[in-house]
This record gives sequence, C-alpha cells and structure tokens, in this order.
Amino acid sequence: MKKIIFDTDIGVDDAFALACAARTQQILGITTVFGNVAVGQAVKNARLFSQLIGCNAPVFRGCSRPLALSPSASATTVHGGDGLGDVLDNPFDEEAGNAVSFIIDTVRALPHEVTLVAIGPLTNIAAAINLAPDIIPLVKELVMMGGAFGTNGHAGNVTPHSEFNIWKDPHAADQVFSSALPVTVLPLDVTHEVLITGDEIRALNMPVLEQISRGYLQYSLAREGFEGMALHDTLTILWLTHPELFVTVSAPVRVVTEGITLGQTLHKVSPLASRFDPYADCRAQTLCLGVEAEKVKAAFLAILQR
Ligand code: RIB
Ligand code: CA
Repeated sequence: MKKIIFDTDIGVDDAFALACAARTQQILGITTVFGNVAVGQAVKNARLFSQLIGCNAPVFRGCSRPLALSPSASATTVHGGDGLGDVLDNPFDEEAGNAVSFIIDTVRALPHEVTLVAIGPLTNIAAAINLAPDIIPLVKELVMMGGAFGTNGHAGNVTPHSEFNIWKDPHAADQVFSSALPVTVLPLDVTHEVLITGDEIRALNMPVLEQISRGYLQYSLAREGFEGMALHDTLTILWLTHPELFVTVSAPVRVVTEGITLGQTLHKVSPLASRFDPYADCRAQTLCLGVEAEKVKAAFLAILQR
C-alpha cells in the first residue's frame, strides 16, 4: 500500500480508478484539474463519488486551464455533461483548498514517501514543480495515464497522433517529462489493450459504476460497435499493485507543443548521438509499452469484488 495523491479530471474511467485506489492505496488527498470536465465540476464529482464509495480523503481544487494553450474542448460527449454520466444528483460545493499547495506541502512533509498518481492533464504537477522545484527529488514516483507511442497502432485518441490528457496541456506534460521527476507512463499502448464489457461492469456488483458508465458504454457501442470501455486511468493503480504484469522501456520523453501533431509524445529510441538532441537534458522515464491484459483485467475485477 503506497501513500498517494490522486490527481484527477474525474470522469467515468477516473471513477473506476478511484474505486480501485480506495481499496488498495492510502489516499492522502484528491487533487482535481480541468480536463474531462471543468475543475469546479471535478471538485463536485470527487466529493460525490468519494462519499458513494466510502473514501474520506480530502478534495482540493487545482488548475482550471492549460499553462500556455487556450482552453480546449472538454470530454462531456463521452463522460456526460457532469462527467459522471448525468445520472447522479450532486449537491456538493465546487470550492476547495488549493491543490498545488497541497501537493507541495504534502511532499515536503513526507519526503520520499509520496507517490503522485495523475490521470488528467499534468497541469497541477507542472505548476507544483515550477513553484517548488525542491520537491522534485522528494517525490517517490509520478505514475500517470497519458500519451501514446504507437505500439499495436495505439497512436492517439483525440487526434491521430495525441492522447487526450497530453493534448489538453502539452506544455505541462513536456515540462514534467523533461524534469528530474521519476515518471512511469501508462499510455494508450497498454490502456487500449485492457477492455471491460458492459456485462462485466454489471457483474461487478457496484451499482454506482454501472450507473455512471451507461452513457459511456452507449457512446462506445454507437461509435465503435463495442459495449465496453478501456480501463485507461485504472491502469495507474494496477501498476502499483501488479507491476510484474507490465513490460517497460526506459527512455527520455518529449512532447510536441505546436503544429498538426500537437500533444504527440515522443521517446528517444536511437542510441546514436545527434548534433541537435532535444532529449539531451532529459532523464530516462519508465514507459509501459506491453501488458498482460487478461491478468490485469482479472486483478482489477478481483480488487472490486473484494
Ligand atoms: O485518454 C484517456 C484519458 O483521457 C483518461 O484519463 C480519461 O479520463 C480522459 O481524461
Ligand atoms: Ca482522466
């Protein structure tokens, strides 16, 4: 069990991940960020869903827009107008304590003990290390869902070349990947390999997950002929519980911040020195590019059926 700060733009798959995190990790706090929904809605969703699953971690409000880009489209077509399938009444307030301050203060108070789990745009993480670079060597690990490196054709989901979390704030992602933070990346290369069907969700005996995912499943069925969803964010928690089920590559990562491939994640594969090396000052990060998908899904189902 790790001490984690759960940083989320809480939509449907984020909620699945939170349900798993609450059963397997010590959640020090939930920090919210814009992405699937506006940050205020993410605060409301984090409070509501936490209450519904019996998680009493404090919730904090984070960044409302990217570091440099103009705000872009949310993902309400997929996750519903409220981000949780538009099926729950949500009486909670959207004001909360400052998420970036919470990240900084908590990492300083618990040096080398805190794992940051980021499953939305990396804006809060970038803001924290910009404001307080002293915390970089104190973070145990940043485990994040995002990016795509092309394995099995998984190169993008919001454009042909970019994944949503990175695309929403490519500058933040590039700063985080090229910092000295130890980052473990769960990209589409593996998250698109672990799919759960509507029948398997309904068999979970967790009504709230079935309720909030109905719209997501209908969208997937209409768009792709599959009544199911990729677990995406949940794989950050399955990395913490079952790292042996993943195949990793160690390489520095950069992010394209302009042009037609904006949000694309690139990793250095050539050992040859080059005269102009954009990875020159970047540490190697841990990229999960392979996964034992059926075993990961079985582990996920076992966690939620405890
Ligand atoms: O591309 C998948 C990611 O984008 C997930 O974090 C999902 O919640 C959305 O934010
Ligand atoms: Ca997310």
